[in-house]
Amino acid sequence: MRFSLSSAAVLGGTMLAHSALAINPLVIKGAKWFDSKTGAQFFAKGVDYQPDIIETSQTRDPLANKEACDRDLPFLKDLGVNAIRVYQTEAYNNHDYCMNALAAAGIYVMLDLSTPTETINRDSPAYDADLLGYYHQKVDAFGGYDNVMGFLAGNEVANAPNNTDSAAYVKAALRDVKAYIKKKGFSVPVGYATNDDADIRWQQQTYFDCSSKEEQAEFYGLNIYSWCGEDSSYEISGYDKVVKNFTSWDVPVLLTEYGCNTIRPRTFPEIAAIYGSSMTAVFSGGFVYEYVEEDNAYGLVTVSGTKGTKTKDYDNFKKALSATNPKGVTMSSYSSSAKMQSCPSVGTSNSWLASATLPPTPSNATCECMMKTLSCVSKDTSAPTDADKLKTWSSTVGDIFSYACSSIDCSAITGNGTTGKYGKYSGCDVVSRVSWALNAYYQANGKKSTSCDFDGFAKVATPSSSSDSSCSNSTDDSSSDSSSTGSSNSSSKSKGNSNTSDAGKNFSAITALTTVAIVAVAAAAF
Ligand SMILES: *[C@@H]1O[C@H](CO)[C@@H](O)[C@H](O)[C@H]1NC(C)=O
Ligand SMILES: *[C@@H]1O[C@H](CO)[C@@H](O)[C@H](O)[C@H]1NC(C)=O
Ligand SMILES: *[C@@H]1O[C@H](CO)[C@@H](O)[C@H](O)[C@H]1NC(C)=O
Ligand SMILES: *[C@@H]1O[C@H](CO)[C@@H](O)[C@H](O)[C@H]1NC(C)=O
Ligand SMILES: *[C@@H]1O[C@H](CO)[C@@H](O)[C@H](O)[C@H]1NC(C)=O
Ligand SMILES: *[C@@H]1O[C@H](CO)[C@@H](O)[C@H](O)[C@H]1NC(C)=O
Ligand SMILES: *[C@@H]1O[C@H](CO)[C@@H](O)[C@H](O)[C@H]1NC(C)=O
Ligand SMILES: *[C@@H]1O[C@H](CO)[C@@H](O)[C@H](O)[C@H]1NC(C)=O
Repeated sequence: MRFSLSSAAVLGGTMLAHSALAINPLVIKGAKWFDSKTGAQFFAKGVDYQPDIIETSQTRDPLANKEACDRDLPFLKDLGVNAIRVYQTEAYNNHDYCMNALAAAGIYVMLDLSTPTETINRDSPAYDADLLGYYHQKVDAFGGYDNVMGFLAGNEVANAPNNTDSAAYVKAALRDVKAYIKKKGFSVPVGYATNDDADIRWQQQTYFDCSSKEEQAEFYGLNIYSWCGEDSSYEISGYDKVVKNFTSWDVPVLLTEYGCNTIRPRTFPEIAAIYGSSMTAVFSGGFVYEYVEEDNAYGLVTVSGTKGTKTKDYDNFKKALSATNPKGVTMSSYSSSAKMQSCPSVGTSNSWLASATLPPTPSNATCECMMKTLSCVSKDTSAPTDADKLKTWSSTVGDIFSYACSSIDCSAITGNGTTGKYGKYSGCDVVSRVSWALNAYYQANGKKSTSCDFDGFAKVATPSSSSDSSCSNSTDDSSSDSSSTGSSNSSSKSKGNSNTSDAGKNFSAITALTTVAIVAVAAAAF
């Protein structure tokens, strides 16, 4: 059943406020989480939770699946966990049953905002109003539950020095979600979960903690698998050095995944360290990977329909966790003078390619305003939802970008996380961006009807506005070239492809010959 988003958020908040199932919301002070009512420091004794849902459903959303929650809650309680991290949920589902049941069991929830399809793509990063809208809906759906301890604005997006430019886009999304949460009156912090790649570890942790309060991550998660079995140790695993580098951090840090499984069954010797005094002074606990047994063999429970069965790891984890007794400080006795970090310098020599200058907040209004000025547009007003059709469509769009932008200047619709230059329409959805390119191409080719065809993809339109000069606020647009608005029909920006006169007409024949230099622009929207 489809569920109204706005009423879900309001209902969720109101019902919980008057509910007997109350759980005290957590609050961040300095680099630690506290119970907002008792003032006790909170350490996540967590498990990553993304079991298959019972009965085929369109979405993999375990927090909307009563049967799965009923099956798993007894195990979660028995394990003694006080938090779960859930990777994939959908805003349009109703989560009241599972969220309330978890709250009643004293279990907090850390939620990823992105999904495998709704995310920033590390290989061709872009960030548009569709993705921001998707994140807004998740905030609306979950922001009112008292037991949501945080949102994650990304998980291991950058994972090698050469794709770290993606971090600029992730951080922009994080900034915008923070602003939205504030506007809605919720108080859930937004963080990021990073991979543990020594080449870029320090750069990532400082990048997400630099620039300004508005852009800074409110907590930082580390996915770490370096402690493998009883022969390892705090020092051998390198945990000691990781912890040392967060010693003077100004926001909470925790392990969003841990639990190397090269030696099985796992006995989890790292748990004594995670909740021991060296680490609790700096870290706020962590989430073991993971609840459900999958092909990768990290599970604590094997699930089948409504039945769950403990794996060999289950009792070991339970035993290790129950032996811990993390000692924290009280909120009133704690204060921190720690400061934000300086942004890492950009350059291949520093293995870091993300500028401190972030993409602007994407705005549908800006894109709609621009669309009204176009004389040639995409016939489709949205991307197809069917997966196969989407694939073909994306490929066509990629070809159009590739072809059109080989002869016109497309900097208005492209961005670069390394230089920190983002065109004024780089944050538009893919239909708006491809329409911009179609129009610019059409204008540059003397508005011949054959230049607005592209095998039937494009159609001539009547602009309702003659200029796009007022389409974006100057603050949204600090670095774009205001001359590249697409309204010029000169060929002065031609990069030498002169065989364009009937390109729109026989597009398929021509695209086969062109390179796919910026297919990424299209792919990135998905
Ligand atoms: C932008 O418009 C799309 C399509 O209507 C919508 O899905 C999305 O939520 C909007 N984005 C924002 C930030 O409002
Ligand atoms: C990025 O670096 C990885 C190795 O870290 C390599 O496998 C990959 O091909 C590189 N990608 C590009 C686009 O250069
Ligand atoms: C610790 O920080 C330094 C920079 O201050 C960095 O060079 C080093 O790689 C970091 N070590 C770890 C384990 O993160
Ligand atoms: C410009 O900014 C104002 C307020 O800052 C906002 O209301 C308006 O929607 C913005 N216009 C566009 C096109 O983004
Ligand atoms: C960003 O700009 C730099 C410098 O011009 C260039 O080397 C890099 O390839 C660009 N990145 C992308 C993704 O276009
Ligand atoms: C655009 O083309 C028209 C004729 O097709 C011409 O009169 C006009 O001067 C051109 N504008 C620019 C900016 O080149
Ligand atoms: C234009 O077409 C001619 C002949 O069809 C071809 O030789 C030439 O390479 C083409 N030029 C470009 C830039 O595609
Ligand atoms: C379009 O290209 C195809 C394949 O190269 C060719 O057979 C056909 O004659 C072309 N049509 C036009 C109208 O140029």
